[in-house]
Amino acid sequence: MRKKIILVTGANGEVGHGLIQQLAARPDHMPIVALDVKKLDRALRPYVWRMIVGDILDTSLLETLSTEYEIDTVFHLAALLSTSSEFNPENAHRVNVQGTVNLLKLAVDQSQMRVKPVKFLYASSIAVYGLPDLQTKAAAGNVTEDQFLNPITMYGCNKLYCEHLGRYYARYYRQLARARAVGVDFRCVRFPGLISGVTMPTGGTSDYAPEMLHAAAQGQPYACFVREDTTIPFMVMPDAIKALLTLAQAPREKLTRLVYNVTSFSRSAAELTEVVRAAFPDAQITFKPSDARQAIVDSWPMGVDDSAARQDWGWTPDYDAERAFRDYLIPTIVQRYREPVE
Ligand code: SER
Repeated sequence: MRKKIILVTGANGEVGHGLIQQLAARPDHMPIVALDVKKLDRALRPYVWRMIVGDILDTSLLETLSTEYEIDTVFHLAALLSTSSEFNPENAHRVNVQGTVNLLKLAVDQSQMRVKPVKFLYASSIAVYGLPDLQTKAAAGNVTEDQFLNPITMYGCNKLYCEHLGRYYARYYRQLARARAVGVDFRCVRFPGLISGVTMPTGGTSDYAPEMLHAAAQGQPYACFVREDTTIPFMVMPDAIKALLTLAQAPREKLTRLVYNVTSFSRSAAELTEVVRAAFPDAQITFKPSDARQAIVDSWPMGVDDSAARQDWGWTPDYDAERAFRDYLIPTIVQRYREPVE
């Protein structure tokens, strides 16, 4: 009999780190197969059944996985973030879209084999939004899942399209075939900017928040690439993991949507700076906005309405802004630079 597993793509990324530890902490957890283009950090290896260094564009690797294992759940986290994607949009499209199609195909094939939908958890982003100007952004406040879906980045376009692909593979896959295929159980969270006390993001545009904090903790100067008034929603990593795991466990019949906003707190870059300075009084933070990256963040909403997630699967973040810094970010970061993580 094939081993039943949970597949995590982008396992070595920021969300993968937190997720693997939390999944492995569950007493009855299924074995985890971690897939990433980079070797999994040594600290995470005890938590996984198998680590595979490989690419989600490698379909023969995915076919081998499909024959070797019964895949119960996929957490598809692998992606190139918004800033990286702008430097090579066509490559971003390959990784973010074709990579997702490959994973959805793997999941749908597995669903047929076991005659039961594979759960497919997909990490989307506030980058799917595109507000036309700052006046509209200020007036819009907390946007719902269905408003302002005009992304201005390749990453945002990729994420929005993949949300639609998830709907297709869940409900309409091969709809003209005589025997209707078993679809995937697609569930998606749209994350705000994420801040981890342990890892640093690479290639995102909300990265100014974690970057200023990690720089201050290391006594390094930091030039923030957005204006002081720039405001978007944020969430700390433990809440991001909580959101993925809670949505994964929610009974399907309670879910009225496939895609859910989640958020914790919205703060301006100036407000974030104040909190960082309060914790690290020697922090040297200056503002040197970059026109291009500023325009991207300006197109993202000030906040998102996550009432559907709250209603359908009881979503509520553990950390508001105050708790996020006081109880998680500051203590974790202080510890992090005392004992560098491998
Ligand atoms: N953090 C992501 C980025 O900046 C947005 O979801 O690309």
